[in-house]
Amino acid sequence: MLSQKHIRSNILNATLLAGLSLVSFASHAQPGPGRNESAMQETRDIGAAMLKELSQTLQAAMAEGGPLNAIGVCKNKAPEIAMNLSMKHQVQVYRIGTRARNPDMGVPNDWQTQALAQFETRLARGDKPYDIEFVQVSKTGAYDLELRYAKPIVLQPMCTACHGTPEQISPEVKDQLSKLYPKDKAINYKPGELRGAVVVTRLLAH
Ligand code: HEC
Repeated sequence: MLSQKHIRSNILNATLLAGLSLVSFASHAQPGPGRNESAMQETRDIGAAMLKELSQTLQAAMAEGGPLNAIGVCKNKAPEIAMNLSMKHQVQVYRIGTRARNPDMGVPNDWQTQALAQFETRLARGDKPYDIEFVQVSKTGAYDLELRYAKPIVLQPMCTACHGTPEQISPEVKDQLSKLYPKDKAINYKPGELRGAVVVTRLLAH
């Protein structure tokens, strides 16, 4: 089985390849704002596809075998879905948490921390999660612009079986989670609360 670090390094490789192909494309064509605009729309669609696929897969696993069975979906399927989308679209897709369960994949970097803070503020003033997104374009080198995109992930009632209070998590699930994630911080969330974000990054041509 692929380890998550391995998957992440594959995602990074895919991103690197994406960068190279965009740069070489840029030397042949004139990518104007139109090109970057379509990259923006594609990025949004990738974020939405990730959220949709995750939620469907999780719901099916929960219905089939309850939360104990669904832990595997969150542990293995979620990064797999992310890697498939990353490879297919030559971007980097993954999830982060406001308090991460997975210390290798789920911890936000600086711009992601900023995105999460904006999400908290907007949710607190009543904006709906699907209306909220974070977009930033940052210069990453002499030739590259990085598009940074994030979309909030808000806790739903079914998530409390694994991210809720200790009373909401069954002893078997607790036991399994503490074995797999000894540094787990992702509990005590309430429905409606910001749990994290789907992140998509990609290189843009100038
Ligand atoms: C069956 C247990 C289970 C359920 C139910 C569950 N999760 Fe998780 N969640 C996990 C596990 C396990 C991980 C760690 C995955 C990994 O290893 O990357 C995780 C990780 C995450 C992460 C990535 C950030 C981090 O903390 O590492 C987010 C975001 C997340 N879950 C959101 C949700 C949301 C939203 C729901 C409900 C729609 C949900 N989860 C339901 C078990 C669960």
